[in-house]
Amino acid sequence: MKVFSSTAAFREARHGMACTLGFVPTMGYLHEGHLVLVRRAKAENGAVAVSIFVNPAQFGPKEDFARYPRDPERDLALLEKEKTDLVFMPDAGEMYPHGFVTWVDVAKVTERLEGSTRPGHFRGVATVVAKLFNIVEPNRAYFGEKDAQQVVVIKRMVADLNMSLEVVVVPTHREPDGLAMSSRNVYLNIEERQAALVLWKSLGLARQLWSGRERSAEILKQQMAALIRKEPLARIDYISVADPETLEELSEARHGALVSLAVYVGKTRLIDNITLLP
Ligand code: PAF
Repeated sequence: MKVFSSTAAFREARHGMACTLGFVPTMGYLHEGHLVLVRRAKAENGAVAVSIFVNPAQFGPKEDFARYPRDPERDLALLEKEKTDLVFMPDAGEMYPHGFVTWVDVAKVTERLEGSTRPGHFRGVATVVAKLFNIVEPNRAYFGEKDAQQVVVIKRMVADLNMSLEVVVVPTHREPDGLAMSSRNVYLNIEERQAALVLWKSLGLARQLWSGRERSAEILKQQMAALIRKEPLARIDYISVADPETLEELSEARHGALVSLAVYVGKTRLIDNITLLP
């Protein structure tokens, strides 16, 4: 495994590779969910590259950039075990050099859900991912379904900017009790960890109502909200039943609709989602 912090050195190694390259962009503090992406990338490509960069541009001024969990040594040990070929670990100066003023702004699909609570978040995500794609030049890039809106934004950007790579979406990796894996789960104390299960339970309720032929999006959201409100440590940010491509809110739930939510558990904001299937 080769580890690079400079763009020039990474590019040189990349250009020496004749095989297809799968790419997993991350902000580090790797968990099993990331490793599932790495394994998938490894299985589908001749080589795999992973980036580790806690991107300041996607954090709001009141968000957790400074305290975002970091453990680069552990991350590298985990990636070595997975037989990762290339790791790109730039610093902020490498990614945002002095005088940086060029941003990638994906309109519309960034305006709702995460975008309305976290203004500027997707501008930071789209910009850094575009830069990473430009540096890494992957054939395929792998993203987790947990960040459903991020996937929509990145697919839109890849299509709109004629980027020549395939975006591969991998199902959310969950703890045995259903909690979606996230680097932010480390913030939860024992009581909050238990309370956090309410996200998965409320999505389960939505699925159950949908299977019982409930088609009113409003009723699905109301029932989910009622369940979450029974959990004293949880506070709802949003619950949505939306079109999976435009992310516009639906009045009638339909096959393929994205049911997503963001909930504060204590001070930690967690997100999760499911797709309604037949
Ligand atoms: O999903 C993440 O970890 C980040 O948003 C990403 C895609 C690595 C960009 O910083």
